[in-house]
Amino acid sequence: MDENAIAILGGTGDQGLGLALRFARAGRPVVIGSRKPERAVEAALQVRATVPGASVTGLENGDAAELAPIVILSVPFEHCASTLKGIQKRLRAGQIVVSMGVPLATAVGDGATRMLGIWQGSCAELLATLVPEGVEVVSAFQNVSAHRLQHLETEVECDVVVSGPMAARKRVMALCGLVPGLRGVDGGPLANARIVEAVTALLIGLNARYKVPEGIGIRFTGLPSA
Ligand SMILES: NC(=O)c1ccc[n+]([C@@H]2O[C@H](COP(=O)([O-])OP(=O)(O)OC[C@H]3O[C@@H](n4cnc5c(N)ncnc54)[C@H](OP(=O)(O)O)[C@@H]3O)[C@@H](O)[C@H]2O)c1
Repeated sequence: MDENAIAILGGTGDQGLGLALRFARAGRPVVIGSRKPERAVEAALQVRATVPGASVTGLENGDAAELAPIVILSVPFEHCASTLKGIQKRLRAGQIVVSMGVPLATAVGDGATRMLGIWQGSCAELLATLVPEGVEVVSAFQNVSAHRLQHLETEVECDVVVSGPMAARKRVMALCGLVPGLRGVDGGPLANARIVEAVTALLIGLNARYKVPEGIGIRFTGLPSA
């Protein structure tokens, strides 16, 4: 396992591909995961075409999860638990799973500006019940627009609230610093993911009302510089 590698399961989709491009541009080895290895390979080729010289590979989700200390789960909320259960046995103590899922009501055929109630409190807390002993779940990147991540010529301009166990969340906050314009903000314990996930539903409504299909982000003011 390369200590600098970042695995992105579902990295064939909009958000995962955007993160893959940004981390690859920052010089980090990226492993893209997919249910179908050929889709992962295709996405890896796309990243290499955009970021020449990038270290990017494409593998089946379980194989990808074994290769990086930080594993970002980038599948729609309704598939997060099943995807994690599918790779559970491939994870090892010390790894971090990043939860990016947002329980939007679209999962039950309702609108994207409304949230579902999750028994555990949030997608991140649900996933925390599914990881093996010694693997930690950190919540991050839910409020960042895929469109802005994918357009490498511009800064993303968004704060990323990172919640979870302290040492693990510091490691994920450091990842935010790899992307120009992103700032990792210490979001405290994982339960705060409930608030952060809901902000995404608010942002989707703002995008529609203000006609910003590229995606509106968030910024906190008055934070002391790190
Ligand atoms: N899009 C955004 O702007 C945005 C912003 C903030 C947060 N997010 C979060 O980022 C995550 C990914 O969003 P996205 O927009 O990239 O999603 P997406 O493009 O709709 O899907 C991402 C990937 O999920 C996999 N997938 C689809 N159906 C699946 C299933 N039934 N079981 C397992 N995997 C399945 C697919 O990968 P394979 O077919 O290759 O397996 C797909 O490429 C979500 O949790 C979302 O809440 C997205």
